[in-house]
Amino acid sequence: MSKVLVTGGTGYIGSHTVVELQASGYEVIIADDLSNSKKEVLQGIEKISGILPTFYEIDICNKPAVEALFDQHQIDAIVHFAASKAVGESVEKPLLYYKNNLISLVNLLEIAHGRNASLVFSSSCTVYGEPDKLPVTERSPIKPAISPYGNTKQIGEEIIRDVVEATQIQAISLRYFNPIGAHDSVAIGEYPQGVPNNLVPYLMQVAAGEREQLSVFGDDYSTPDGTCIRDYIHVVDLAKAHVIAVDRLLQSKNDKPYEVFNLGTGKGYSVLELIKTFEQVTGVKLNYAIVDRRAGDIEKVYADTTFANDVLGWKAGKELDEMLLSSWKWQQSLG
Ligand code: NAD
Ligand code: WQD
Repeated sequence: MSKVLVTGGTGYIGSHTVVELQASGYEVIIADDLSNSKKEVLQGIEKISGILPTFYEIDICNKPAVEALFDQHQIDAIVHFAASKAVGESVEKPLLYYKNNLISLVNLLEIAHGRNASLVFSSSCTVYGEPDKLPVTERSPIKPAISPYGNTKQIGEEIIRDVVEATQIQAISLRYFNPIGAHDSVAIGEYPQGVPNNLVPYLMQVAAGEREQLSVFGDDYSTPDGTCIRDYIHVVDLAKAHVIAVDRLLQSKNDKPYEVFNLGTGKGYSVLELIKTFEQVTGVKLNYAIVDRRAGDIEKVYADTTFANDVLGWKAGKELDEMLLSSWKWQQSLG
């Protein structure tokens, strides 16, 4: 049984990926410092898979602690989710982001280098900035980063590319578009800390009566209804792509170059389309108001997923209505 270290494995995307890796027969070890997640997520994972993953509460920036973990386990692959991800906070505290997101990556690459472990890296569609042409392919230009957070993903990808070039390490970067939804069992899902920054968690809290009103940030963009367009993807579809990426790395020892894949559905929806779809599928009327644009927002971005479809044999299965029902079911389960 191959062993996979999942850093950030008690987080939102990490926990869903752990479940899919376990279902595919991998032994999963989680390392998370619980800076943005709770230990109880482990019980949620066990509820779904019947397997309580081995857990280490460690900061990946603490290299001796990570080395000690590797001394105890023969790790075949690392799926590296652990990072800070709040765009606004990264503007206020850039060094926190450069330190946490880049030192952790460098540590893992140094350790992986000595131990023949492969790496899957969580990247983001944020690397494309405001694209000139849609949909974006993996060859679309990388734009100057809008935030320190986005820059950590661009620099992270560059570090990996250089290290793969110079060593025997194999790696895949996955550029996620906008993950939403939760596991169908509602045993795991997303727990936003404080006021949610992202559209769907905020919308769900308004629909649940926990917040007064959803602000729609701008309706004067050059899109059909004036609101921004994104490519929303269900988190379980996303999680499954990680299993395929790990399979691919482990099946092809040292004969593959560094690869990068877009993970989206390939379809773009506007904020107002998303709100309308939510109201239709749930029957819940949402209180929202159009307000000013949010600084730094991209007008429209959605993925060309041909490369992931053809090379990984992966395709997102869930449509927007199913994704929103999934998020709503999760929200309601929170009581
Ligand atoms: P999350 O915050 O739910 O999960 C990240 C986990 O990493 C948390 O459990 C946190 O406690 C842990 N962590 C952070 N720094 C750590 C450190 N130094 N050592 C150990 N653990 C640490 O976030 P998520 O939404 O699941 O995102 C996972 C990854 O995907 C991140 O790298 C994020 O940048 C990337 N990503 C997320 C999105 C998104 O919209 N959610 C989109 C694109 C990319
Ligand atoms: C989606 C749309 C908002 C909240 C962020 C990160 C990006 C990536 C994905 C990690 C936009 C609008 C939002 C609200 C609104 N993450 N909106 N009212 O901006 O695509 O990207 O998450 O890598 O790096 O920046 O996602 O969910 O914040 O916004 O109208 O209360 O919803 O303007 O058009 P975004 P989001």
